[in-house]
Amino acid sequence: MAKRRGFIYQGSEIYGGLSGVYDYGPLGVALKHNLQNLWWSSFVTAWDDMYPVDSAILMNRKVWEASGHASGFNDPMVECSNCHSRLRQDHVTDKKCPVCGKEGTLGEPRQFNMMFKTQYGAVDEPAETKQADPAITKSLTYVVENTTYLRPETAQGMFVNFKNILDTVQPNMPFGLAQIGKGFRNEISPRDWLFRLREFEMMEIEYFVKPAEWEKAFEEWRAGMATYFQKIGLPESMVHEKEVEEADRAHYSQRTIDFEFDFPFGRKELAGLAYRGDYDLKNHQEKSGVSLAYQPKDGSESFLPHVVEPSFGVERLVLAVLTAAYSTDTQGGEKRTFLKLPAEIAPVKVAVFPLLKNKPGLVKKAREVYENLKKELGAVEWDDNGNIGKRYRRQDEIGTPHCVTVDFQTLEDNTVTVRNRDTTQQERVKIDALNAKL
Ligand code: GAP
Repeated sequence: MAKRRGFIYQGSEIYGGLSGVYDYGPLGVALKHNLQNLWWSSFVTAWDDMYPVDSAILMNRKVWEASGHASGFNDPMVECSNCHSRLRQDHVTDKKCPVCGKEGTLGEPRQFNMMFKTQYGAVDEPAETKQADPAITKSLTYVVENTTYLRPETAQGMFVNFKNILDTVQPNMPFGLAQIGKGFRNEISPRDWLFRLREFEMMEIEYFVKPAEWEKAFEEWRAGMATYFQKIGLPESMVHEKEVEEADRAHYSQRTIDFEFDFPFGRKELAGLAYRGDYDLKNHQEKSGVSLAYQPKDGSESFLPHVVEPSFGVERLVLAVLTAAYSTDTQGGEKRTFLKLPAEIAPVKVAVFPLLKNKPGLVKKAREVYENLKKELGAVEWDDNGNIGKRYRRQDEIGTPHCVTVDFQTLEDNTVTVRNRDTTQQERVKIDALNAKL
């Protein structure tokens, strides 16, 4: 359905796809933007001391050495000596290779770094040779020195701009930095559609607090995250908090709560809340030699702030929202599929139809209604294809909360029918009152 209706397509599909990569179609883009806008209004514009940044995907390699990702952003991997499949160790449940089915062919686990390596500058592929050719040695050195990584989290772009923010914004404590952007992870086994991807989008906040105040901030963000999940239509009964054990926490975290969601393939992480202490600022201060201390405005002693970090994966939200909203019922003896999306995140807010396409009077009137609504609501769709039942079915399936139909009675009394997606009930509404009602 997501493909048929233009929400999500497989990446590079006409070439057979690329594992762990998906593209958004027109309705998917609208849904994604709505989720992001709601995140932005909830966590950025609604707050007093929240500052947005938009840092580059490419960063100096030293960032990833200081952050611990170059040495510690690993997943244990096993390789099958028969089919050469590489698998995440925790995805292998018995001694058999899950790909070729052979027993006893899985090797010892080894650590695999999940960052995507890339080179910047005019780097040639180094020639394959065993001889000590000075030109090749020089070229290899260039390749190594000009290597960096695609960012696996947006967070580091905020930590390395910490001093810029202090100098240019002079924030009060506590304050936050917020960023939406792409993240890349060379996952060993991408799987479950949008769940485990190699390229995805993140929405992250680094919330800087006085060291003694981290627990208060942690609890505030915990509640704020739960409220956001409700706003986007995830039933409370499907979202669960999990205290992550020390052994399973990321290398930078002193405490993590995962928000898990009941996906169709099981209860899995949707988003995370981490207490990173001063791990990042301390390491960047040490490795860069630049002071990242915060100087309070009252002249008291400067200190390194601690960080509470709510982090959301956009595609996991899209997946959760689609699976939570997907509903079926029977209407007039026929099975119907509809997406019970909250109006705020529905890609199309209202669809407007003339009852018949070949009646110029109806079409003209419907066009007026459509243009009027579009001015106010933006995401309004015009549809005059096929019969009215087919148009309703399409709008139900893409989650449009209301359909407005202009019929012959409209020409007599200036009323239209407004149909509710979930109940399929229709009521007549005066055109003058339509915008306000919707
Ligand atoms: N800066 C914190 C951080 O990176 P994370 O738990 O590794 O924390 C944050 O990632 C969120 O990003 C996750 O909760 C999840 O929603 C999303 N995410 C992580 N890896 C992903 C992947 N391979 N595919 C899709 N989303 C992913």
